[in-house]
Amino acid sequence: MNLTFIGTGYVGLVSGVCFSEIGNRVTCVDNNQDKVDQLNSGIVPIYEPGLKELMEKNKAQGRLEFTSSLSQAVQEADVIFICVGTPPLPSGEADLTYIKQVAHDIALEMDGYKVIVTKSTVPVGTNDNLKDMIGQLTSHAFDIVSTPEFLREGTAVKDTLHPDRVIIGTENERAAKMMTELHKPLTSNIITTDIRSAEMIKYASNAFLATKISFINEIANICEKVGADVTEVAAGMGQDRRIGSSFLQAGIGYGGSCFPKDTDALIQIAGNVDYEFKLLKSVVEVNKDQRFNVIDKLKHSLGDLKGKRIGIWGLAFKPNTDDVRDTPALEIMESLLEEQAVVNAYDPVAAENFRKGFGKCDSVEWSTDALAAAKDCDALCLLTDWEEFKEQDLLALQKIMKQPILIDGRNVFSKEQVSQTDFQYYSIGRPEIGGLFPYKEEGIVIPL
Ligand code: UDX
Repeated sequence: MNLTFIGTGYVGLVSGVCFSEIGNRVTCVDNNQDKVDQLNSGIVPIYEPGLKELMEKNKAQGRLEFTSSLSQAVQEADVIFICVGTPPLPSGEADLTYIKQVAHDIALEMDGYKVIVTKSTVPVGTNDNLKDMIGQLTSHAFDIVSTPEFLREGTAVKDTLHPDRVIIGTENERAAKMMTELHKPLTSNIITTDIRSAEMIKYASNAFLATKISFINEIANICEKVGADVTEVAAGMGQDRRIGSSFLQAGIGYGGSCFPKDTDALIQIAGNVDYEFKLLKSVVEVNKDQRFNVIDKLKHSLGDLKGKRIGIWGLAFKPNTDDVRDTPALEIMESLLEEQAVVNAYDPVAAENFRKGFGKCDSVEWSTDALAAAKDCDALCLLTDWEEFKEQDLLALQKIMKQPILIDGRNVFSKEQVSQTDFQYYSIGRPEIGGLFPYKEEGIVIPL
């Protein structure tokens, strides 16, 4: 099929490349000419494992092209995917300006029947509104489909080529059939539903995953106080198939471009119909507080942080991405600077993006390797679970630090690894090792 993807952000670019890989002729459109020029010269503007190779292969085979010209791309397409951003407004609601503009432009360029698919995450009812809007602007036949995107950054290519499921939301049989044919090479698990349910599936899925994370983080906080180990608890819980083992990794909370934005948006969507989503509000609250767990632990182990040298390992909101949107590292860093600590930070790929968005970057020292960031530090905080950090030799690390204090915000090191060192080791929801952790001193007495 001839496919057009409008917007070359994470969703549009990865989807466009992957649909060309399975044999379709794909045009990716972006109104940013610089970005189009970059893509045409083989530069991928995001860090995503495997994407560059796949993009080059399909471009060379003539199945993939990039342009800023919408009219030709619309006219040549059987199916047009809208993949532009829906960033949050200050109220938490999704900003639909870009999506409305694109729908308007598509309507004016259409020259025959088109299937118009929304991949952007949009509030329930948006696709019905787009249908009315486009219908008023064109006399050509078209159908609207909502096909929400579930790809994760860092594994986006794999997630797109091998999705758990594909959701096709449409009231039209012809469009449903075309979309089913298109997705068949990717999975047999294709679920056809109505447009509004498809829109809701995306928000409900992200909100549920965020809930799992905040839930296990609260369990972790309780584990610390009663002397249990959250990784053991999560492993035991996960064996119940009704619960499942994924998304039960305790840490410093979720970040990224989706969970924070989509949970806020769903609270708003509910609020707009006079429903208070109390559970989700708590999930968001718990997530905000969880970031400061690291600061609390630093203060417990070091006392006043003023003038103390703190190393930061990891700035991206998760490994294998250079994305720093809503990353816990932002607030943790702000907080350390407020406490007048001396901060030295390192991330394998995300440092440049972090520096662009961080107002106080002149107050921070930046390192180009992990050991340099830890050198002479009073404490080291691991904030992103990059493989590179997991592979570090803890004995060598201990030697170059001023004080061997490690705050592991992602629970990456095992008890066995740490026990062979002199580190005071604090993680999330697990017993401390080698430290004088106050929770222990408090001596929790459980009445018999
Ligand atoms: C998420 C959804 O998984 C994806 O389906 C949707 O399309 C977009 O949003 P993404 O934001 O790329 O994807 O990353 P994900 O792997 O889901 O992680 C999100 C955040 O949760 C990260 O900050 C990660 O560190 C955190 N997380 C994840 C935990 O803290 N614990 C876990 O057990 C899992």
